[in-house]
Amino acid sequence: MAGVIGTGSMGRGIAQVLAEAGVVVRLADADPGAAEAARGFIADMLARKIAKGQCDEAHRVATLDRLVIVPAEPEAFAGVDLVVEAIVEALDVKRRLFSGLEPAVGPDCILASNTSSLSVTAIAAGCAVPERVAGFHFFNPVPVMKIVEVVAGARTAPWVTAALTALAGRTGHRAANVADSPGFLVNHAGRGFGVEALRILQDGVARPVDIDRIMRDAAGFRMGPFELFDLVGLDVSQPVMESIYNQFFQEPRFRPSPIGRNRMESGLLGRKTGAGFYVYENGRARIEPDPEPDPRAGAAVDAPIWVGPAADPRWRGEVQTLVAQTGLEVDAGARPQPSSIVLLLPLGQDCTGAALAQDVDPRRAIAIDPMFGVGRRLTLMTSPATDPALAEGMAVRLGAGDVAVTRIRDSVGFVAQRITAQIINVGCEIAQMRIAAPGDIDPAVEMGLGYPTGPLALGDRLGPLHVLAVLEGLFGATGDPRYRPSPWLSRRARLGLSLTHDEA
Ligand code: NAI
Repeated sequence: MAGVIGTGSMGRGIAQVLAEAGVVVRLADADPGAAEAARGFIADMLARKIAKGQCDEAHRVATLDRLVIVPAEPEAFAGVDLVVEAIVEALDVKRRLFSGLEPAVGPDCILASNTSSLSVTAIAAGCAVPERVAGFHFFNPVPVMKIVEVVAGARTAPWVTAALTALAGRTGHRAANVADSPGFLVNHAGRGFGVEALRILQDGVARPVDIDRIMRDAAGFRMGPFELFDLVGLDVSQPVMESIYNQFFQEPRFRPSPIGRNRMESGLLGRKTGAGFYVYENGRARIEPDPEPDPRAGAAVDAPIWVGPAADPRWRGEVQTLVAQTGLEVDAGARPQPSSIVLLLPLGQDCTGAALAQDVDPRRAIAIDPMFGVGRRLTLMTSPATDPALAEGMAVRLGAGDVAVTRIRDSVGFVAQRITAQIINVGCEIAQMRIAAPGDIDPAVEMGLGYPTGPLALGDRLGPLHVLAVLEGLFGATGDPRYRPSPWLSRRARLGLSLTHDEA
């Protein structure tokens, strides 16, 4: 038997999945009528499931019978095996709730918190028996998001996390076992995406709409980072960015951008205020289409195209094929002819650095991000010396077929190399710090954040050595420790091991 205290968006979801799994749940809320409203809400949810053929009336009746509304008083929870709290996100209130419950419940009753940002250790510190306190962090909406973080505070007993993990299995949720640390696993892993996107914006490399397009079309994310900021609201995202940064004592990898704070203070919060990084009309973002190519610009491309070497030789072949498909002549020489236009394929370098390293004329050099293949969108990057007419001409010619082209300013690691390298690096640090095991990191991030793959699998797909090269390039060019490679990544890359590989 379990108890759920706080029956708002999270508590009602937790109560539903527990009751559906056969657990009798005592429901309580400080707000009179709130627990009844939650039970009514769950009844509606179950009716929808019946309409979709996902369960039958008998399941609905039995589930609702298991939801027992009780007063929000400690005595109402006598005899339960577990209490999950999903009340207001305030340390002192949660501590008071748990210490009040302790004398009323049995010695083996687990006290679990659904907190997403408070320290489980700090909540437990208010209890006489902190060993029985753990985090049980579900995601919204609970019945749909089939992942839960089981968080062990500094003093949590192993039987407590084992029991919560087993219970999660009964509800059909995958439990990720996580050590108590800021952002736990999923919200910690989410630092790479938005924080680096804001840094790219701050560096003046590309506009939000361009960064979003690249991350969707080239890197395969369902949503771009700025679309996500607008969806969640900067009033939520910015404080989380600042809080995790500060809880890690100003870890440079998580350093937020002043752009986020400025925009939050100006009220450009996103969808909820009708304007964020995009402007919304009738709930839809007004997004300007890709610029119409000017066919006259293509005429500037009047020379053969020499494609530079790449970290993976296949990339050069792919780009040469694309060039030939668009009707341009390929200069296949070992070195470019003086009249040739140079297409560079740098990894962890900007166009400037790549042109100098290849000893080619920087005025005729343009870089293409090779790491994500020639798919739906190419990122085309120029140095300050690149002839603008040539760059525009190449964008038009390469974008003439099925591939869209986004132009950006010079940036070590373009856009997608930078953001994916940071996502992977943060994931590797989570493994390095033993916050979670590799086998839990990827599924939790995939399910919790909706990424196409978890960070370790993403690193394996892109090539650990390639990711390492991007980070080393960024670190070398900027001197910023935010880009220092995680030892977890660096060791496995150099040893030729998968990023999911753990020591025995
Ligand atoms: P909510 O505001 O929808 O619901 C909170 C409920 O708790 C309200 O019904 C309120 O009346 C009740 N309550 C507040 N103080 C209480 C007390 N002392 N005793 C009994 N009931 C009390 O909040 P929501 O979104 O459900 O969040 C609850 C917890 O879950 C918070 O700790 C939050 O950080 C965490 N969380 C929220 C997520 C979300 O997406 N909303 C995701 C994951 C965790």
